[in-house]
Amino acid sequence: MSVSLLNACSPETFSTLSVFGAEILSINAALVTNYSASVPDAYRFTQPTTELHNATFCNITVSYTHPGQDDNVNVEAWLPINNFNGRLQAVGGGGWVAGGFFLSYGAMNGALADGYATITTNAGLPESPDSWALLSPGNVNLHLLQNLGSVSLNDQATIGKLLVKSFYGKGPEYSYFNGCSQGGRQALMLAQRYPTAYDGIAAGAPASPWTELFPYMLWAQQFMNMLGAYPYGCELDAITAAAVSACDGLDGVVDGVVGDTDACLAHFDPLGLVGTVINCTEAGGEVQISPGAAAVANATWHGTVTADGKQTSYGITPGSDLTGRSSNGQAALAVTNCTTGSCVGAPVDMGVHWIKLFVARDPEFDISNLTHAEFDRLAHLGRQMYGSLIDANDADLAAFRDAGGKMVSFHGLADNIIPPKNTEKYYNEVASIHPDIDNFYRHYNAPGLGHCWGGVSGPPTNLFAQLRAWVENGTAPGPTPVNITDLEGSLQPRILCPYPREAKLDVECGNSSVAECWSCTAKAKAC
Ligand SMILES: *[C@@H]1O[C@H](CO)[C@@H](O)[C@H](O)[C@H]1NC(C)=O
Ligand SMILES: *[C@@H]1O[C@H](CO)[C@@H](O)[C@H](O)[C@H]1NC(C)=O
Ligand SMILES: *[C@@H]1O[C@H](CO)[C@@H](O)[C@H](O)[C@H]1NC(C)=O
Ligand SMILES: *[C@@H]1O[C@H](CO)[C@@H](O)[C@H](O)[C@H]1NC(C)=O
Ligand SMILES: *[C@@H]1O[C@H](CO)[C@@H](O)[C@H](O)[C@H]1NC(C)=O
Ligand SMILES: *[C@@H]1O[C@H](CO)[C@@H](O)[C@H](O)[C@H]1NC(C)=O
Ligand SMILES: *[C@@H]1O[C@H](CO)[C@@H](O)[C@H](O)[C@H]1NC(C)=O
Ligand SMILES: *[C@@H]1O[C@H](CO)[C@@H](O)[C@H](O)[C@H]1NC(C)=O
Ligand SMILES: *[C@@H]1O[C@H](CO)[C@@H](O)[C@H](O)[C@H]1NC(C)=O
Ligand SMILES: *[C@@H]1O[C@H](CO)[C@@H](O)[C@H](O)[C@H]1NC(C)=O
Repeated sequence: MSVSLLNACSPETFSTLSVFGAEILSINAALVTNYSASVPDAYRFTQPTTELHNATFCNITVSYTHPGQDDNVNVEAWLPINNFNGRLQAVGGGGWVAGGFFLSYGAMNGALADGYATITTNAGLPESPDSWALLSPGNVNLHLLQNLGSVSLNDQATIGKLLVKSFYGKGPEYSYFNGCSQGGRQALMLAQRYPTAYDGIAAGAPASPWTELFPYMLWAQQFMNMLGAYPYGCELDAITAAAVSACDGLDGVVDGVVGDTDACLAHFDPLGLVGTVINCTEAGGEVQISPGAAAVANATWHGTVTADGKQTSYGITPGSDLTGRSSNGQAALAVTNCTTGSCVGAPVDMGVHWIKLFVARDPEFDISNLTHAEFDRLAHLGRQMYGSLIDANDADLAAFRDAGGKMVSFHGLADNIIPPKNTEKYYNEVASIHPDIDNFYRHYNAPGLGHCWGGVSGPPTNLFAQLRAWVENGTAPGPTPVNITDLEGSLQPRILCPYPREAKLDVECGNSSVAECWSCTAKAKAC
């Protein structure tokens, strides 16, 4: 145990902290001892489940404001006393939260267990946008939206590096960022706008095309409103199950995992299920799958379409959880509430907040019965008003590349909230600008994986270690292992491949439960 580090854990050690554009309001530093936590991989995405035992660390909280903006941002950093590995691992947020909530703390527990100094920021936001989005009806708190969108991210990196330097006497050898969903958006924003903030970035299921994604989150509900039909969850779950059965084998292996989601979307027609009799708990007996249920599933899979027939977003894939009842306890897009006998739509809060508070700028605004044209107008207005503040779509990564940065991203093909095609599209745009993309950015599609976690696939828990080897030793990441749960309920090893390659079972090797029988090949054209 380093006595000098123990003694250094006091506010005076960090009193020289200075950040451009910020005024430090207070610094707290207190030793935490005998700290233990269990960390599931679901909280750290690209790193394995781990246990933190009896940790000793310096817990530093910095409060600061951007003078003139009337904000108060909190960052919390944990600097290990005993096992510091010389590196910083900053963590991201989720949903509307920039950080400083249970998922971020879970990721920090994991980072600490591995010897990293680690840091999170709340970007100056309370957890729900209900309490910060509007300064008054009609007037959005643009500074806080900007904090969330980008500014707090660079502050977090700057503060993290300076705290490490003050405490250990030198800055981190390498700095990393790890996040999923909102955290994935933050990750891409960092690569795009703050190219020297981190050496290595791991971006999971990024909510990066925010102003397109948030209206899409409401599309299934809008579609139900326009149709005047609110199917039972059991109907949608039956359609999902039928899509998985029908599409499972399209990738050559029947294991409960839909590997070729493009072919599934192209070939599986939910209309064919209309009239099928199913048992339905919420209906109290047997029902037939309705035309409305088929149309809602189809609309959710095909993405947002404007009144004049233009597609404005991708959709989540057939087989992903439409009702939030089967996988990871997260929000879902086509939820209905049938407790009163007839069903009503139950839109996802994240999307409702966007349209109500930021676009309509009116907490009383009613989204439950918009015409198609009104919905289109609000979606478009959101893009116009906030695209540059919150979207992380810029495909020009030259500055990040030239600074030596490396980035990996992954996206579950069974993501139930964010269409995985978004991330493919972003990757393709970066590739079209940078023919050398393979030298600094690799993306992995994860068949069967839900939003950040859940579904029939585990997350790619070795990917962060591969990112580190890329940053530190120049070894670019190839295939990365995952485990899927097969139809019999047993764990099967699989690999994920750097996109556009994908995992294929070697026909001669033949045994799909042997990892060595899988290899990365170019995607076969769907017929
Ligand atoms: C350390 O924490 C464990 C439980 O987490 C507790 O059983 C033990 O008494 C604590 N030890 C000290 C010295 O506080
Ligand atoms: C916990 O860590 C402290 C500080 O490193 C050490 O003195 C103590 O022996 C550890 N306790 C256990 C039960 O490992
Ligand atoms: C770190 O310090 C902050 C502020 O004092 C406190 O809210 C938080 O609970 C502390 N974290 C731990 C793990 O002790
Ligand atoms: C519904 O459940 C009942 C009772 O278990 C069973 O008899 C019936 O065959 C089921 N119907 C369908 C369509 O599965
Ligand atoms: C499914 O959606 C696509 C795209 O909006 C549309 O072209 C097609 O007609 C829909 N199919 C059904 C069965 O509703
Ligand atoms: C469903 O609707 C009922 C009646 O309005 C309400 O009490 C309940 O909280 C709703 N359930 C969910 C999950 O929204
Ligand atoms: C929704 O709007 C339509 C057309 O404006 C109207 O006919 C319908 O009654 C409204 N439904 C509800 C539930 O308000
Ligand atoms: C880099 O290579 C060295 C020497 O082979 C090895 O000890 C170290 O673990 C590697 N680091 C990473 C992050 O892979
Ligand atoms: C897959 O499961 C095995 C056995 O539980 C475990 O050792 C391995 O770390 C897992 N791999 C991944 C990538 O999660
Ligand atoms: C495939 O490999 C697994 C794991 O080694 C083994 O248990 C199983 O028997 C093999 N199946 C066939 C058909 O060879």
